[in-house]
Amino acid sequence: MHKLYINPLPVRIWHWTNALGFVLLIATGLQIRYLDLIHLVSFRTAVVAHNWIGFVLIANFFLWLGFYLFTDKIKVYHPELSPTKYFRASFRQMQYYGYGIFRGDPNPHHVSVYHKFNALQSMTYQIIMMLVVPVQFFTGVLLWDVTRFAAMVEMFGGVRVVDTVHVLFFIFFTGFIFIHPYLASLSHTPWAHFKAMITGYEEVEDEPEQGAASR
Ligand code: HEM
Repeated sequence: MHKLYINPLPVRIWHWTNALGFVLLIATGLQIRYLDLIHLVSFRTAVVAHNWIGFVLIANFFLWLGFYLFTDKIKVYHPELSPTKYFRASFRQMQYYGYGIFRGDPNPHHVSVYHKFNALQSMTYQIIMMLVVPVQFFTGVLLWDVTRFAAMVEMFGGVRVVDTVHVLFFIFFTGFIFIHPYLASLSHTPWAHFKAMITGYEEVEDEPEQGAASR
């Protein structure tokens, strides 16, 4: 085993602020939506907290975006441009998660500094960070002050449409908050990826020596 520095400090600060913020947004969102069923805090407190946390996470998003845009670490998000290669890698990874992992097969993805995500992670993280999260923030800001943004709300089909998109993505994030940590626990130990997101260092298996296989 050797250690690789794969999660720089800004990514770790962004990630844990974002994770805590999303849990709080989900909790306060549930309180706002299901006023009669849940009694965590008052409606007013839930609305004020939801808005503030939302704005903190929007600023935090720009920490993540800025860090990747202005450093060469953006390479970890560069997509595989050959569809055949990409499809093969995704299929191998799906086979591993769905079947190989239960037989103790090795993970087909090998982590390196500029290649820390497997094919499935690189695609889902990009869709989440460049589409789902921005749309959720954008619809949240529109709903924060529907009077101020009345023209834009109307352009998108009215409050109902904007609210439906916000709630559908809320349902997505509620599922994501369970599935994502589960997938992150699938390493040589359940805590390896979590530790890496705290310390920055991932423990990586040593590659077999050149020619060792033919010996
Ligand atoms: C309880 C909440 C969460 C936990 C325990 C958690 C855990 C982790 C762990 C262990 C990793 C590193 C392993 C990996 O790359 O898969 C990771 C990475 C990541 N997580 Fe989370 N996460 C949480 C919430 C979230 C949320 C809410 C989002 C987005 C909305 C998110 C987005 C990401 C992204 C984009 C990465 C890759 C970061 C990068 O290296 O650029 N996570 N998460």
